[in-house]
Amino acid sequence: MLSRTVTKKIKPTPTSDGAGVKLGRVIGGHQLSELDPFLLLDEFKSDDPDAYIAGFPSHPHRGFETVTIMLDGYMEHKDNKGNKGLLTPGSVQWMTAGRGIVHSEMPKMDKGLMRGFQLWVNLPAEKKMMEPRYQDILPEDIPVVQDESEKVRVLAGCYKDTEGPVKDIVTSPLLLDVTLAADKQFSVETPTNHAFFAYLFEGSALL
Ligand code: FE2
Repeated sequence: MLSRTVTKKIKPTPTSDGAGVKLGRVIGGHQLSELDPFLLLDEFKSDDPDAYIAGFPSHPHRGFETVTIMLDGYMEHKDNKGNKGLLTPGSVQWMTAGRGIVHSEMPKMDKGLMRGFQLWVNLPAEKKMMEPRYQDILPEDIPVVQDESEKVRVLAGCYKDTEGPVKDIVTSPLLLDVTLAADKQFSVETPTNHAFFAYLFEGSALL
């Protein structure tokens, strides 16, 4: 087995998007413009509704996938095909925009907090115009692998023989939400031809 070393460490760049939602941009900014196939990673985190209440009014996506991971608060989404839904705390939405989706995303806080991530995953050229689709995953449908030092929610891919609920993604991603006890290390096997990143933060309300 080969061991990978961390090649770059960055902190999110404060920015805003949509109708003025304050974000931390990790991938997709000047520090790390992309990490193929990852085009963007934003963290949104606030206890101030003015920082995000205007949300992300109607906007298009095409040729890639958007993954919304809610830790705290809600995200209401509606698209131009009549699809709509409400992402609840702890839930994940894997949206394959494919040949095109126009949608709005409106955040709402819960217990004074709104926190989550959005990741954009590119599609290979031959799949860019695929049929759009959603995989909305409730928190209770996300399997957890747990021992005394770690709690791992398996969102996509396979970890310790546990399969995540997000299926049939062209890029075969492994997406884990890992909670570690203090001073513990985490390691995971990954295909050598896959790009890999970890986003570290303290203080999820899910702990
Ligand atoms: Fe969007």
